[in-house]
Amino acid sequence: MRTQVGIVGAGPAGLTLARLLEVAGIESVVIENRDRDYVERRIRAGVLEQGTVELLREAGVAERLDREGIVHHGIHLQFDGERHHVPLSELADGRSITIYGQTEVVKALIAARLASGLPLLFEVDGVSVHDLDTERPRIRFAHEGAQLELECDAIAGCDGFHGVCRPSIPSGVLRSFEREYPFGWLGILAQVAPSIDELVYAHHESGFALLSLRSPELSRYYVQCRPDEDIGEWSDERIWEELQLRTGLAGWTLDEGPILEKGVTGMRSFVAEPMRYGRLYLAGDAAHIVPPTGAKGLNLAVSDVRILAEALVAWYSTGSTTGLDGYSDACLRRIWRAEHFSWWMTSMLHKLGDDPFDAQLQLSQLRYVTSSYAAARSLAENYVGLTTL
Ligand code: FAD
Ligand code: PHB
Repeated sequence: MRTQVGIVGAGPAGLTLARLLEVAGIESVVIENRDRDYVERRIRAGVLEQGTVELLREAGVAERLDREGIVHHGIHLQFDGERHHVPLSELADGRSITIYGQTEVVKALIAARLASGLPLLFEVDGVSVHDLDTERPRIRFAHEGAQLELECDAIAGCDGFHGVCRPSIPSGVLRSFEREYPFGWLGILAQVAPSIDELVYAHHESGFALLSLRSPELSRYYVQCRPDEDIGEWSDERIWEELQLRTGLAGWTLDEGPILEKGVTGMRSFVAEPMRYGRLYLAGDAAHIVPPTGAKGLNLAVSDVRILAEALVAWYSTGSTTGLDGYSDACLRRIWRAEHFSWWMTSMLHKLGDDPFDAQLQLSQLRYVTSSYAAARSLAENYVGLTTL
């Protein structure tokens, strides 16, 4: 088998790249080791930056997003028993965010790929990548009982943090930067109308909590927990109790409903540089991870593949490698900004330990961002996505 671009991983990065290449008339094959149902149901991100929405629209996969996505112009920060509104759009030159599940983005991209009759292989096994520093890199894998080899001009490693592409780069090439946090998030999807008009990020002495949503009937709520928390110890009653405690306010009620899904996510910051080795290009979580507090992971994945697609299009149409040579640096500017913002939001909002000095610093910072125009504007422009990087 032969293709122009071999794409490993059918998450947001791989599927968006495949779509952008299709629009530009470049061939690709996408391979994914999970089944379609699993990929479409994996509940993760919920906040799309305006730039992400615009890109999906240009790629022709935003019809339902435009109908069902919920545009938000602000968020709330809650601390010290008070809820403060941060008017994002007012602070960030009219830009907004859209609440729309990653699952729905992925479903639209898969449907578009299959409707175009282009190769997207699920449930592949034993993926490995070879000859990365030659002009004919290859991907080997098994599919439906057959052992296959795909010869490519370039390979896009879009296989997430635990994928095979990054570890296939010879040792000594990559430099990694990492931070693990001593906490995680317990997230639920509940069948109940959201009790909030905009997201609430709550700092509380018992730990952080986040109120988000997926639709007018579905709420997505999180509480800070241990990274290795045993979900079995969290009955639905205990989860609601903790949410009520951490987000409660006089005169406001958090409505409860059946919990449809619950899970624990650990939190880390991670960057591997450069995002290229020979003809292998890493994109999305395969190259970098942010803690979810800044809502940046999916948006970064989309922004990487926008840059990669543009570079590949230039290469195929003019033979110029300038875009591909600059790919890693171009992505890393935005990635490091998002790394800093996500670390900063995480450090400001989570219970870090029992040191009262830390808690006082957090409260001071929260008071500052909710009272100073300059500080609020800085939060806002990062949250909606910087356009200058
Ligand atoms: P992935 O989504 O991980 O996709 C990689 C794909 O590769 C997967 O389908 C995987 O099965 C496949 N794969 C792995 N190994 C192989 C292999 N060997 N062969 C073939 N395929 C393979 N981001 C935001 O922007 N906003 C948010 O609000 C937000 N909230 C989040 C909340 C939670 C609880 C979590 C966990 C994450 C959140 N994120 C958020 C982060 C976001 O979900 C990720 O950054 C995003 O999924 C990255 O996309 P990706 O395509 O790079 O990687
Ligand atoms: C979500 O809705 O899942 C969500 C929202 C904001 C975040 C993280 C996750 O910062």
